[in-house]
Amino acid sequence: METVGDRMTRKISIATPSKPAICSRCGAPYRALSLGAHHLNCPTCDCVIRQAQTRERQEWQRQERDQRLAAANISPRLAECTFERFQPKEGNWQAFQQCAEYPKRWPLQMKEAQGSGLLLWGKPGVGKTHLAAALANRILERGARVRFCNVTEWLNRLRDELRDREPVGERRDDLGASDLLVLDDLGAEKGTAWALEKIYQVVNQRYEGLQPLVVTTNLDLNQLECGVGPRIFGRLLEICLPAEVKGEDWRMRIAKERQFRRSSGE
Ligand SMILES: Nc1ncnc2c1ncn2[C@@H]1O[C@H](COP(=O)(O)OP(=O)(O)OP(=O)(O)O)[C@@H](O)[C@H]1O
Ligand SMILES: [Mg+2]
Ligand SMILES: [Zn+2]
Repeated sequence: METVGDRMTRKISIATPSKPAICSRCGAPYRALSLGAHHLNCPTCDCVIRQAQTRERQEWQRQERDQRLAAANISPRLAECTFERFQPKEGNWQAFQQCAEYPKRWPLQMKEAQGSGLLLWGKPGVGKTHLAAALANRILERGARVRFCNVTEWLNRLRDELRDREPVGERRDDLGASDLLVLDDLGAEKGTAWALEKIYQVVNQRYEGLQPLVVTTNLDLNQLECGVGPRIFGRLLEICLPAEVKGEDWRMRIAKERQFRRSSGE
C-alpha cells in the first residue's frame, strides 16, 4: 500500500513551475527547488501529508467497519431492517419505543448488572426480528461489535462442526466476543439436553460478564420457561426487560396485498 511518504514524493515530483506555486488548501507558498535540470515545487505546509493521513484513517475505519459487519452475521434481509421501515402500531408501540431508545443509551448498557437487555416476545410475523435487527444495525453503526445469531441455525452449525472435526478439548464459542448479542428465535430449536446446555452456556456467559443480550421468541413467557427451563429463563429475565410485540402477522399482510394487486391486475 502507498504510504504517506510515497504520496508526498509523488506530489512533489509531478509539480512543475507552471502550476500555481501555492497550496490550494491553506495558501502557503511552495518553495522552488532545482535539482540539476529538474525544477520542482515543494510545499512548505503539512496539508498534503495531513490529507493523505486523513485518507489512510478513513480507509482503515472502512476496513474495520467491514470486518465488524462480516462478523455480525447480518444477512442482506436483516440489513434492510431499520426503524424507519417499521410501522409502529398500537400493539407494538411500546416494544418499538424500547428498541428505538436502546441505541441512544449505548454504550451505557455494557457492564450494567440489570436491565441491560431486551426480551421481545410475541406471535409469528409481528416484527420481533425486524426490531432486533434494526437495533443491532444502529449499534453496529456506533462502532460496537455486534453478533446476530439465529439460535436454530447456530446450534445446527455447531453440531455439524463438532461432528466433522476431531474434538480438540472444549471448543470456545465466538458469541462471547461481541459487545451486543442477539439471540433470534429462541425456543424454536429442538430442546435437546445438548442444545439447552449450549444455550445455557451462552446466556450464562452474558449474565456473568454483564454483557448486553437481546432475545426474540415466539413463545409466551410461560411457554419459554417450560421450553428452556428455569436456569436459562431466570437469567434471561434478570438481564432482559420483557416486551410483548403484538399485532397482525405482517407476512400474511404482505401476501394478501400481493394477491390483491395481482387479482386487480396492477
Ligand atoms: N410493523 C411493521 N412494519 C413494517 N414491516 C414489518 C412490521 N412488522 C413486521 N414487518 C415485516 O414483516 C416480516 C416479518 O417480520 P419479522 O421477521 O420481524 O417477524 P417475527 O415477529 O420475527 O416472526 P417470527 O416469530 O416468525 O420469527 C419482515 O419482512 C418484517 O420486515
Ligand atoms: Mg423472527
Ligand atoms: Zn497547505
